[in-house]
Amino acid sequence: MSIFGNEDAIEIEQPTARVVKNSLGIDLGTLNTVIAKPSGDKFDLYQIPSVVAVKKDDPSAVLAVGEEAKKMLGRTPEDIVAVRPLKKGVIENIAQAQALLIRAMEIGINEGEIVGRIVIGIPGDASEVEKNAAEEIGRKAGAETVLVVSEGLAAAIGAGLPIAEPNGTMVIDIGAGSTDLVVISLGGINDIETVRFGGDDIDQRIVELIAEKYNVAISIHDAEAAKMEIGMVHCSADFENQTYEVIGKSLETNRPKKVVIDSMLIADAAEPVINAVIDGLNIILERLPAELMMGVYKNTVAVGGSSRLKGIKERFFDESDIPITISDDPMTVVAKGTAIVAAEPLALEPEVRLKAMK
Ligand SMILES: Nc1ncnc2c1ncn2[C@@H]1O[C@H](COP(=O)(O)OP(=O)(O)OP(=O)(O)O)[C@@H](O)[C@H]1O
Ligand SMILES: [Mg+2]
Repeated sequence: MSIFGNEDAIEIEQPTARVVKNSLGIDLGTLNTVIAKPSGDKFDLYQIPSVVAVKKDDPSAVLAVGEEAKKMLGRTPEDIVAVRPLKKGVIENIAQAQALLIRAMEIGINEGEIVGRIVIGIPGDASEVEKNAAEEIGRKAGAETVLVVSEGLAAAIGAGLPIAEPNGTMVIDIGAGSTDLVVISLGGINDIETVRFGGDDIDQRIVELIAEKYNVAISIHDAEAAKMEIGMVHCSADFENQTYEVIGKSLETNRPKKVVIDSMLIADAAEPVINAVIDGLNIILERLPAELMMGVYKNTVAVGGSSRLKGIKERFFDESDIPITISDDPMTVVAKGTAIVAAEPLALEPEVRLKAMK
């Protein structure tokens, strides 16, 4: 019985009382989509590959998403292809990205719950069209409120950097498709440089170098696996030159052929990407106001899966004299930052919030 003595009121009130509203933070990455759900002062984290399976003649007809779609890579019937909805960090196909986001939301919430607020990380140099696309797919996927936040700022929030201070702090997010270098002070983005190069380009270059050097074609997945296992970048420090064996296809005989990949070859393959990132870093340093140098010197963090390459820290120091800390959870900080904003946008100072949502 309700306090009003009106049975109808109970019936109306109960269903609304049972609706659990959630907030979710989602990092829609080129390679991985990471979902962070605030849970007390921690996060529940989930990850799915950013892959969908579609009909070849109708790329918007999505048949499978995430793990299921990834398993279909290379094994699909002729009329089905597995593709990535994002290229170089940017949404390429709205219907595909939406399917990915719907799956991400399904994973992040329990049945019967709804998503009240969702915050999506987008590249720092995203155009209005790209921002609108992210907001549109969030709304179409069923979220009540959709906010977009720059991945760099989200990474800084997720990594617990002192973003609100006036001294400055920097995040370098080296992902699969792109690299963002972001300077933050007083809670807002002070400067940003986006380089459309990342781990994917290294994998591609490994494949090319093996073909040039040994006349053997290897799969891009093997190239990536070798990079993750023994990858490094050229730097002043001495790292062991390790090896990794793969079986490829001889381009002379069409037969299987063993190739031994070493860390040096991977460092060569990574060189164009590393140089592009260092060019970006130099541009940032050239523009950096002297007032922020101390903060950037003390608080620069590298995130993103490609920051795990051995020698990255040393190479950045060789080329810029900036000591960089590599995040211990490089692949989830962006999602965590978006989840923090999703859980409590008011936790950010109003001015900071406005900049974050820009
Ligand atoms: N141990 C490792 N060593 C080198 N590279 C790695 C390692 N682990 C993951 N990577 C690379 O990190 C990249 C994926 O990182 P991440 O999940 O941050 O990218 P993303 O967010 O999907 O991409 P983007 O931010 O560009 O849209 C891939 O290129 C992957 O090969
Ligand atoms: Mg990323």
